[in-house]
Amino acid sequence: MEALLEASGLEAFYGWSKVLHGLDFAVEKGKITVILGANGAGKTTLLRAISGMVKISGTVRFAGERIEGFAPEDIVRRGIAHVPEGRGTFVNLTVEENLRLGAYARRDKAAIHEDMERVFRLFPVLKEKSRNQAGVLSGGEQQMLAVARGLMSRPRLLLLDEPSLGLAPVVVTELFRIVRQINQSDGVTILLVEQDAVAALELAHQAYLLETGSIVTSGPAEELRENDSIRRSYLGY
Ligand SMILES: Nc1ncnc2c1ncn2[C@@H]1O[C@H](COP(=O)(O)OP(=O)(O)OP(=O)(O)O)[C@@H](O)[C@H]1O
Ligand SMILES: [Mg+2]
Repeated sequence: MEALLEASGLEAFYGWSKVLHGLDFAVEKGKITVILGANGAGKTTLLRAISGMVKISGTVRFAGERIEGFAPEDIVRRGIAHVPEGRGTFVNLTVEENLRLGAYARRDKAAIHEDMERVFRLFPVLKEKSRNQAGVLSGGEQQMLAVARGLMSRPRLLLLDEPSLGLAPVVVTELFRIVRQINQSDGVTILLVEQDAVAALELAHQAYLLETGSIVTSGPAEELRENDSIRRSYLGY
């Protein structure tokens, strides 16, 4: 296996309070890795730690380079896009303006139009609504916009924070189908944070289970699907 991202001894802090307690994990290149965990386990903080948005100690290597301590925009430039919890779209801007913002850190402005066409092919509904304000989109469409905006930075690694939150099952299925397509056709490596363990373990290749800031279980997704304690706590069967 070749790790695109590798963290070791990763700790994260809000002020004096430590919420990640020395995590070791790897995100395999070209694969989908999922982080499962209950509310407050530290999933969002883990993604923030990778994208430079929270104080950390330990090491984070991306494509072989140490990136801990880098500013968020430098991390984006190196090829990591973060789709935050709660979507973070700009409701007063149009769909197209939101997508352009996703490309803000890029220098190859000429290719931006091409990428816009590419995300419109992945998400036809965004093309139809490209001139609408993001605020009038449905929840599912806003989540699609958030993922599409992440893609506009041409990431090698896409971080997705609970994309299924608040969406109807049929919309989750559609969104995850597109995430799989982004991974398979475009070769984008994906680190997904999810509470919907059933859907996430279907989609992912590798999985980690986080409990109160520590990794308690990890392995291939199909093994975790069979794991008794995960079944009891997260899968409900
Ligand atoms: N800005 C903050 N300041 C202080 N503490 C915080 C902050 N954000 C999160 N925390 C604390 O850090 C811990 C981990 O929170 P985090 O948001 O990473 O959890 P999570 O797994 O993403 O939860 P959820 O599933 O509810 O989104 C929690 O105890 C939380 O209260
Ligand atoms: Mg969270």
